[in-house]
Amino acid sequence: MPEPLRIRIAGSGRALPDKVLTNQWFIDRLETSEEWIRERTGILERRIASEGESTATLATTAARKALADAKMSVDDIDMIIVATITPECPFPSTACFVQQALGGPPVPAFDLAAACSGYIYGFIVSSFLLQNGLYRNILLIGAETMSKITDYDDRSTCILFGDGAGATILSASPKTDGPALLHYRMQAEGSGLSMLAVPAGGSRLPASKMTIDERLHYVKMQGREVYKLAVKRNLELIDSTLAEAGVSPEDIALVIPHQSNLRIIESARQRLGLPQDRVFTNIQRYGNTSAASIPICIDECREMGRIKPGDLVLLVGFGAGLTWGSALIRI
Ligand code: UT7
Repeated sequence: MPEPLRIRIAGSGRALPDKVLTNQWFIDRLETSEEWIRERTGILERRIASEGESTATLATTAARKALADAKMSVDDIDMIIVATITPECPFPSTACFVQQALGGPPVPAFDLAAACSGYIYGFIVSSFLLQNGLYRNILLIGAETMSKITDYDDRSTCILFGDGAGATILSASPKTDGPALLHYRMQAEGSGLSMLAVPAGGSRLPASKMTIDERLHYVKMQGREVYKLAVKRNLELIDSTLAEAGVSPEDIALVIPHQSNLRIIESARQRLGLPQDRVFTNIQRYGNTSAASIPICIDECREMGRIKPGDLVLLVGFGAGLTWGSALIRI
């Protein structure tokens, strides 16, 4: 096993819009049913941004809560990273909007686009920056307003997504046997990029009347293919991360998976042979919030006392790109 990267979660916070979209909302508008949505996805409801709410406003609210939780001020933050695929605008970065809202010194601020794996990618990159002593406290946020890129006429995708933000403050940890990133995996497979994408609105296919008429600014997904790969990659990720770290499933206090589909999460749980209370889920309440899902889970778990000092926690995620990653952490 490689040397642990000594980092700790010093604080966390989350922001979910008040507006709730229940399954009934979709049933009233589309050809779908409560049974189909529940059985195929596990989702009961999701939160959707109201007018005036955006990725940066949710990210900023979550960040303020994380600062309060860590008993820090914005002056203590050395870097701001926002993992998102629904940025405030093409540029400047959402991280700069968050920095403007929080105030504070001119520290580096940038976005990271790795879709549903974005928070895990950010966690790993932050750990290296903290470990080498260049930075002391990094504000790492996963924030999305998926509702802004969801086609509410496409029944195969619109029932899946929700909005929200989760923020964590990651800090260098002085103790060698204390909180740490013990092992990680981080991969991408560009050959699968067309399976899950927003085709238009960038330099490849700029906005035009045609792209709008053809609804190309919305998420397009080959659901079944992505599903099969998500199951396969998740199982490989779990096996390789634990084997390389020399850790057995029974040693894991809690698995926090990306919340894409309850059946995908369930297949991972079964592979690990863990009881349901050792794999955290909140997809029932929030749907798939992409890069925001894992930090929202982390915040809920910390608040509920589901993770405590010394626990081994496994983060796993898979998403567009295709990208996937894992982080085995000691709290
Ligand atoms: O977070 C990033 C990664 N994302 C994921 O991992 C998501 C991966 N994909 C999925 O979660 C699943 O593929 C879905 C939930 C999107 C779909 O579930 P599925 O079991 O793969 O269904 P399917 O796409 O194979 O469709 C089965 C049937 C089709 O009808 P026919 O062709 O069998 O007659 C669909 O047209 O279900 C139909 N269908 C629906 N029926 C009722 C598709 N959407 C709906 C709907 N309500 N909302």
